[in-house]
Amino acid sequence: MTEDERVAGLRQALADELERAGDLRSREWRRAVERVPRHLFVPEFFERTDIPDRGTLWAPVRRDDDRWLDLAYRDETWVTQLDRHLTPRDAAGPVGGDPTSSSTMPGLVVRMLEDLDVTDGASVLEIGTGTGYSTALMCERLGDGSVTSIEVDPCIAANAAAALRRAGYAPNLVVGDGLDGDAGHAPYDRIIATCSVRTIPRAWLVQARPGARVLVTVTGWLGGYGLALLEVDGDGVAEGRFLPGTISFMVARPQAAPVIGDERWGAAFEALADAEVRRAAVGPDVLRDWTGAFVAQLAVPTVVAQRMRVDGGPWVEYCLDTASGAVASLTPERGGGWTVRQAGPGRVWDDVEAAVLRWRDAGSPPQERFRIRTDGRVRSVWFDGADGPVSWASS
Ligand SMILES: C[S@@+](CC[C@H](N)C(=O)[O-])C[C@H]1O[C@@H](n2cnc3c(N)ncnc32)[C@H](O)[C@@H]1O
Repeated sequence: MTEDERVAGLRQALADELERAGDLRSREWRRAVERVPRHLFVPEFFERTDIPDRGTLWAPVRRDDDRWLDLAYRDETWVTQLDRHLTPRDAAGPVGGDPTSSSTMPGLVVRMLEDLDVTDGASVLEIGTGTGYSTALMCERLGDGSVTSIEVDPCIAANAAAALRRAGYAPNLVVGDGLDGDAGHAPYDRIIATCSVRTIPRAWLVQARPGARVLVTVTGWLGGYGLALLEVDGDGVAEGRFLPGTISFMVARPQAAPVIGDERWGAAFEALADAEVRRAAVGPDVLRDWTGAFVAQLAVPTVVAQRMRVDGGPWVEYCLDTASGAVASLTPERGGGWTVRQAGPGRVWDDVEAAVLRWRDAGSPPQERFRIRTDGRVRSVWFDGADGPVSWASS
């Protein structure tokens, strides 16, 4: 078997797998998966390895690895950059770090394209070119001129441009902040983001044609995510719903949570010495629940949380409002339950509890019962409870 025949077989097998899983639902996208050579977009990547006592490390996989070609066609997300600078080329062995670019698993990419209902002739804006694989699928289906893709990281963008060229595609590629969109190739019929956003930017809505659809993961600083599918009206207002599933993407770089230095945490701990103390009605485990974290984050959009322990003591959850400086801590009680301490200009955990209890009182509806509406400035998210809509608005 020649190398070309082997690669064609791997693409066919991937398409079969995605179709069986229900991600691939149309002939057009199947054809694109069968044609786009994913291995050209992931010449090297990191494989996640969990090593006891060392936590999560990332092992480089390169072309000279016997497993590389088969892995390239697995329905897996392959991380290609850590901490905004580290690439597999730089790593001699497994390394630590936070993923900052990747080739998203093909099943998710095609599921999103199917959900977005991208039709022939549509002009599409993609935010987060990454390796260029998803861009290539769209070029294959729609033609180069219909696809505009924006990547914020110049090195990632250069690799994607080279891979797209090698694979024979020539979309409109933009290096810059995708939150600004790209007015040059507007208007768009479809907007898809493979990074998540805290707020849907006004620029996207202005650059969208009336009736355009936007598919994007909405996130926040408490680690909640929801994949939203919106339709834009003629006045630049978008409204839509959240789709089922647990889909998360790395946050758009300008909207990443601020890093809280030791000094700021130190001041927060000091403030807690004079805190109001009570028994918590909701424990911090809500932040580990998919929809619970999303609801909490809607209530306190500028709050970050961190679990810490001092000198072998219990794990304590600290929540800090980066806007006001208000702080809360949650400490486990011996017999179960939690003690909450709150200090500063605001009561962070009161706000979280009020939102979570309203959600729980309504029977903890799943995310697909939530809706979203935004004009790019003010955003409301709500679900319909027994007594009418329960909503949160933020700007
Ligand atoms: C999950 S990866 C993209 C996956 C890609 N679609 C693929 O199939 O390979 C997310 C990408 O979004 C990029 N990104 C983050 N913030 C961005 C922003 N504000 N504008 C454009 N790209 C951004 C990251 O650098 C990263 O490459």
